[in-house]
Amino acid sequence: MQTLFINIKELLQVRPKGISKVSGSEMAILPKIDNAFLLIKDNEIAAFGPMENCPTIENATLIDASGKVILPTWVDSHTHIVYAGNRVQEFVDRINGLSYEEIFNRGGGILNSSKKLNATSEDDIYEQSKIRLENVMKLGTGAVEIKSGYGLTVEGELKMLRVIKRLKENYPIAIKATFLGAHAFPLEYKDNHSGYIDLIINEMLPKIAEENLADFIDAFLETGYFSVAETERIMEAGKKHGLQAKIHVNQFTAINGIAACVKYQALSVDHLEIVTDEDIEALKNSETMPVALPSCSYFISIPYTPARKMMEAGLPLALATDYNPGTTPSGNMNFVVATACIKMKMTPEEAINAATINGAYAMNLSETHGSITIGKKANIIMTKPITSFYQLPYEFGDNLIEKVMIEGKFVE
Ligand code: NIG
Ligand code: FE
Repeated sequence: MQTLFINIKELLQVRPKGISKVSGSEMAILPKIDNAFLLIKDNEIAAFGPMENCPTIENATLIDASGKVILPTWVDSHTHIVYAGNRVQEFVDRINGLSYEEIFNRGGGILNSSKKLNATSEDDIYEQSKIRLENVMKLGTGAVEIKSGYGLTVEGELKMLRVIKRLKENYPIAIKATFLGAHAFPLEYKDNHSGYIDLIINEMLPKIAEENLADFIDAFLETGYFSVAETERIMEAGKKHGLQAKIHVNQFTAINGIAACVKYQALSVDHLEIVTDEDIEALKNSETMPVALPSCSYFISIPYTPARKMMEAGLPLALATDYNPGTTPSGNMNFVVATACIKMKMTPEEAINAATINGAYAMNLSETHGSITIGKKANIIMTKPITSFYQLPYEFGDNLIEKVMIEGKFVE
């Protein structure tokens, strides 16, 4: 099966093989071809280039992309798409003046979602979650990381990870699963932190490893949640089971967590609304990808990740949604890219690099996702007719996507 796109106004993010991420100054450049063709064979990118080099191909489905932009699908490296119910009441409570912290201290927040998750059947959670997954695929996401972390019990965490496994099996989109048992301390372990961490390490992790349910391990390293030392225990245990760390850190406070994550060779550190000079130093020359989540900053009114400062220090940056019921009930990467431009002063080139190639790095998918490269998965977004790709973040509330292709097939 072959599909040939012709007359593409701008073909974005064209890269040779072997580039896994782009750092600081490199992010300003988004390699593109004007008036291009793109050939898809089965589920892979087979060829691309300027229209004058376009081959004649028998039996290919021909798509005229005149006036349209084509780019790789978004790579959303941080989500909590699997959850039960919602938290609309907390949304209204925040409007009326309560903070995220105050809501958590009253037993809401993550513990509220945990209560709902544990009271809902696996089938029901699957049905609720698949709607969200189908929705983000239509919005141009072609790879997604999904975390557990609303179970906080052995059974609850396994239930979430089994739902993620079913989603992996039933959808063409690439999915990576992250075990986030260390999301919050359940009430019964409020004064027995080491007891809960023992449960994670001695009960949850071996079962998860046995069923091969997780690709990564995560913890919420934050004042009032998991300390640096507690997170180190989690990362250490994850390592023993072959699970690289991706850590929630520096969302509200900076407590030297980033240096610890780098020490444990975390694949990514995510949130980073509060970043110190020491944090930036720790990330320099490391293999750890910083990930910003601007929809979260937007939704709960906290600072935005200081992207310019970090990129000027030479650091790469990825962008993801953080789709979850508490701090970001949205999985729209188009909004994330626009918000990064508008609020974080990233250029459209930088934001698109962050949401594609650097996102792929942050979920260990650089070999197959994140750029228009021969041999990578045929994952593409084709826009409606637009003047240039700048229009994507510029018309921030609109959906300018005409078609999404995932692994060679159009999303219906
Ligand atoms: O990434 N910060 C920790 N975890 C989630 C929010 C979880 C929740 O409120 O349900 C986040 O923002
Ligand atoms: Fe998160």
